[in-house]
Amino acid sequence: MNTLITLERDGNVALVYINNPPVNAGSLGVRQGLLEAIKQVEDSSDLIGAVLIGAGKMFIAGSDLSEFGKPLENPQLPEVISAIEQCSKPIIAAIHGAALGGGFELALGCDARVACEGSLLGLPEVTLGMIPGAGGTQRLPRLTGIPKAIELICAGTRVSTADALALGMIDAIAEGDLASFAANYVRNMNGKCRVRDRHPQPCDASQIELVSAKALKAGKNRPQVRLAIDAVLNAANQPIDLALTSEREVFQQLRMSNEALALRHLFFAERQSAKRVELKNVEPQPVSRVAVIGAGTMGSGISLAILQAGLDVVLLEQDEAALRRGQERIAGEYMRRVKAGRISQAQADTELSRLHASTDWAHIASVHLVIEAVFEDLTVKRNLLRQIEPLMDKDAIFATNTSYLDVDQIAEVAKYPQRVIGLHFFSPANVMRLVEVVRGMYTAAEALSTGFAVVRRLGKLPILANNAFGFIGNRIYAAYRRECELMLEEGALPAQIDAAMESFGMAMGPFAVADMSGLDIAWRMRQARSPLRDGNARYVDIPDLLCEKGHFGRKTGSGYYLYDEQGRRSEDPSVSDLIVQESMRKGIERRAFSRDNIVDRALLTMANEAALLLAEGVTTRSSDIDLVMINGFGFPKWEGGPSFWAARQSLSNLMARLETMASTSGPGFVKGDLAMFHHLDALQQGASTA
Ligand code: NAI
Repeated sequence: MNTLITLERDGNVALVYINNPPVNAGSLGVRQGLLEAIKQVEDSSDLIGAVLIGAGKMFIAGSDLSEFGKPLENPQLPEVISAIEQCSKPIIAAIHGAALGGGFELALGCDARVACEGSLLGLPEVTLGMIPGAGGTQRLPRLTGIPKAIELICAGTRVSTADALALGMIDAIAEGDLASFAANYVRNMNGKCRVRDRHPQPCDASQIELVSAKALKAGKNRPQVRLAIDAVLNAANQPIDLALTSEREVFQQLRMSNEALALRHLFFAERQSAKRVELKNVEPQPVSRVAVIGAGTMGSGISLAILQAGLDVVLLEQDEAALRRGQERIAGEYMRRVKAGRISQAQADTELSRLHASTDWAHIASVHLVIEAVFEDLTVKRNLLRQIEPLMDKDAIFATNTSYLDVDQIAEVAKYPQRVIGLHFFSPANVMRLVEVVRGMYTAAEALSTGFAVVRRLGKLPILANNAFGFIGNRIYAAYRRECELMLEEGALPAQIDAAMESFGMAMGPFAVADMSGLDIAWRMRQARSPLRDGNARYVDIPDLLCEKGHFGRKTGSGYYLYDEQGRRSEDPSVSDLIVQESMRKGIERRAFSRDNIVDRALLTMANEAALLLAEGVTTRSSDIDLVMINGFGFPKWEGGPSFWAARQSLSNLMARLETMASTSGPGFVKGDLAMFHHLDALQQGASTA
C-alpha cells in the first residue's frame, strides 16, 4: 500500500485511513491504495470487515480536479466502489468534516455510513458542469427516493449530518471517537448491506415533474442539470449496471466540455485568489465593530452584510432624515427575510440589536474599521476623512467604497494614509459576493490583510486591485459599454444588443443595466472627466443627448427604453430615431449586426481591456479578472470569464479580429496584448492541485 492509504486495526476490524492532505482529495494514489487495502481486508481471515476513514480534517472533500482535464488513469473510482461491493465483508464509511463528490460516492458504495455531527455530505458535480460519475445518481435515489435525489444532485446541495440522517443518506450519527464507534458498528452488522441491492421508493410522476422543473429553472437550464435528472430517473427504470454505464459515459463527456473546463477554472481561480504572497504572514487586525458612514443605497446594504455576519455596526449620517431612511431600509429587509421564512424573528431581532444608528461622530472612537459610503465626490470624501481621523482609534482602518475616485488622493489628507484602503462593494451590497479590495500607494500590508479578512468574514469574495480608475470591474465594464455604444452608431439598436448579450448569458444587457443604474450618474461623471478626455478619440453623444431630454433611465420612466408603471420595458421609437439621426449626423452608414457580431465584439473588448489592466499592473492575475466579471457584473460563469474566453480562442484568429475591431472602433481604441492569455496554460486546463 502507498503512504496515502494506511491500514490499522481495531481488534478484528480494519481501519483504512485516507491520508492525502490537505483535504484528502481522491487522487490516483488514493484509489490505488484503497484497492490494495480492500484486497487485504478480503484476504485477512482475522478481519471481519473494515472502516474507511479520513485522517486529518475530513473524510474526502472530492475528487482531485486537477486530474479532470486529462484522460483519467486506472483504477478509476467506479472500480474501487465495485471492489467494495464485491468484497465479502462489510465495509463502512466513517465520515467527519466533508464527504463530497467522489468522496460521497465512495461512501455510497459502502455497506453503511456513519457521520460525526458537523459534517457536510453531497454531490456538487452539477455545479462544476458535470454529473456524478461514480454511481451517485444511482445510489443516492435508492436511499432518499427519486425526487429528493434530483433536488440534491441538481443543486449540488451540501447536506448537514442531521439532515443526512433524516434523509437516509447515513445510517447513524457517530458518538465519541469516530474510529471506535465505526468499528463497533461493523461488529454489530449482519453481513453485507449494499445500496445497489435496494430499489428506490416508488413515487408520483407529478412529483418528479415538479422537482425537475424547479431544478431546471434554478439551474438555468444548463445541460448538466437535464442530464443529471435523466440519470437519476434511470435508477427507477433501468437495471443498475446499465444505468451506471450510461451515467459514466455522460460524466466522461461532460468532464471535457467547455462548461466544465470553465467552472473548474473558476474553482481554481477562487482558491488561488485566496493565496496572496503580499499577505503571507501578515496578520489581520481583529474587527468586531464597524462604522458605516452614509446611510444611502450602499451604506444600508453594507450595514446589512455586516450585521448578517454577526458584527456590530455603527451607522453614521450627516442628515437625520437620511439616517432614518437607511434604518428603515435595513429593518425592511429583515422584515422581508422573516416573512419569507429565511430567518426567525428572534434572529432578526438579535442581528438588528447590533445596529447603532446615529448622527453623533463621537461613536466612531469605538470601531476597528470605518467604511465610508458618502457621495461620490472627492472633496466630500477628503473632508470626511480629515474630520473623522482624529476621532478614530489609532489602529482603526479607513475604507472607502468609492467606485471611481482615486484612493491615493483621498488618503493624502490623512495623517496615517497607510491605514486607508478601498473596499469596493457592489449593489445590492448585502447580496453581491464581490468586493474589490483596493491597495493604494500608501496602504500598509496589515490594512490590506484586515480588509481581506473582513470581506471573507462577510462571506464575500475579496479580489485585490491596485488603485486605478474604475479598479478592475468598472474599468472593463466601461470599455464594454463604450463598444456597445459604438455599435449603436454603426447600425445596432439597444434592444438588439441587449438581446444578444443576454442570449450569451449576461444577466442583463448593457442598456438595460444603464437604465437601471440611472443614466444621469454616468452623465455627471462624463461631465466631471471631460477635461481629461482625449479630444481625438471617437465619442458617442447618444447617452448625453438622452440625458438632455430627461431620459435618466428606469426611475424617470424612460432611458434607452420606455418603462410602464410596473417597470416593464418596451422599445422607444424616439430613441431609435435619435440613434439613426446621430449616425447620419456623423456620416456613418448604418449596417446590419448579427447576434454573433455583437457578442464577439463585446467579448473581444472585455478581453482587450483585461489585457491592458494586466499590462498596467492594476491586477496581476487574469483569473482574478474573471472572478470579478462573474461575481460582480453578471458574466455567465459557464463561460469562465473574459480571460478564459480569450484563452480558448485560436490566437491568430483572435488577433485578426482585434485588428478589425480596432480599425472599426477608430481613434481612442487602445489595443492590448491578447497573446498573454495564451501563455496561461494552467488557466485553460485548471492544472493545479485540488
Ligand atoms: P447615496 O446617495 O444613496 O448615499 C449617500 C449617503 O451619504 C446619503 O445618505 C448622504 O446623506 C450621506 N452623506 C453624504 N455626505 C456625507 C457626510 N459627509 N457624512 C455623512 N454622510 C454623508 O449614494 P450611494 O449610491 O449609496 O453611493 C455611496 C458611495 O458608494 C459612492 O461613493 C458611490 O460611488 C459608491 N458606490 C455606489 C454603488 C451603487 O450602485 N450605488 C456601487 C458601488 C459603490
